[in-house]
Parts: sequence; C-alpha cells; structure tokens
Amino acid sequence: MSKTFPFKHDTYQSHNDMPSGIQPLMQKAEEQLDYAYAPYSQFYVGAALLLDNGEIYTGCNQENASYPLCMCAERVALYNVGTTHKSFKIIALAITAYNPKKELREPCMPCGACRQVIQEFEHRQKAPIPLYLASKGHYAIGLDGISDLLPVGFSIDSLL
Ligand code: THU
Repeated sequence: MSKTFPFKHDTYQSHNDMPSGIQPLMQKAEEQLDYAYAPYSQFYVGAALLLDNGEIYTGCNQENASYPLCMCAERVALYNVGTTHKSFKIIALAITAYNPKKELREPCMPCGACRQVIQEFEHRQKAPIPLYLASKGHYAIGLDGISDLLPVGFSIDSLL
C-alpha cells in the first residue's frame, strides 16, 4: 500500500519509469548504499546530485556511537558540493534507502534537518532542486523542489 502524499509529485514504479537523465543518478545513489555506515540504525541511505555541468556528487549516511553525531546522506552530498564550488547549480537530487533487516516499501523522505539544508542550497543557487525519493527496489516519487516538504520554513528572510 502506497502512502498518500499531500503535495504535487510524480510517481515512478521503477527506475525505468524515471526520466532518462535521472536513472543513472538514482543508480549512483544506490551505489552509495554500499558505503553507508549505519551499524546502529541499519538504515542505509545513499544520495547523488547532478550539477548542470553534468558532474555528479554523492554521499551516504555516516553514523557514530555518539548518536547525535550521525550525518545524513543528503547533507554529505550537498556539503561535498558546497566545499568544492563557489557557485553551482544542482538540477536533481536522488535519495534512496535500504534496510537489510526490514523491507522499506516507501520512498525515503529527507529528515527535517536535511530539508532545511536543501532549502539553503536552493537559496544559494536561486533555483529549486528537483528531488527524486526512493527506497531500493520499490517505487519512487519526484518533486519540483523542497518547498512542499518545508513550507513556511526558517530562512534568510526570517533573519531580515
Ligand atoms: N538518514 C539519512 O541519511 N537521511 C535522511 O534524510 C533520513 C535519515 C539517516 C540518518 C541515520 O544514519 C539513519 O538514516 C537513521 O535515521
């Protein structure tokens, strides 16, 4: 049974349904599942983002025995770009997850902290970042940007 998502999105039953440019990106996100370090949660997350120049940057979650230090896949990938580029344009961000102990049937939704960071990267590049959310072997959804997942969020406007 699929979740009902209360925002505009596309649904893809498999990788093959996704736009052709996104299929290899989701493949890269899946490859990151092999590098994820998630011995505590067993929730392995991979992320891959595509720049408008064709470059792909990746990330995966990195857990720690001191639980609050765990870092999400999306933020590893985004900070990878932020620390190597003064300006950039991310045209897609793919996220997927896998749990060897439990079949994940729903797309991996970015956590609140990652939504906040994605919002900041949208602000930095002055354009929304299309999101493709999946779990390995199950359906995926696509969204135009983070605003539907973080409406009325805290942003630079809040500081002015
Ligand atoms: N996790 C991510 O990597 N991205 C998210 O958006 C959701 C959560 C990771 C953090 C932690 O290592 C594990 O998933 C369980 O919360």
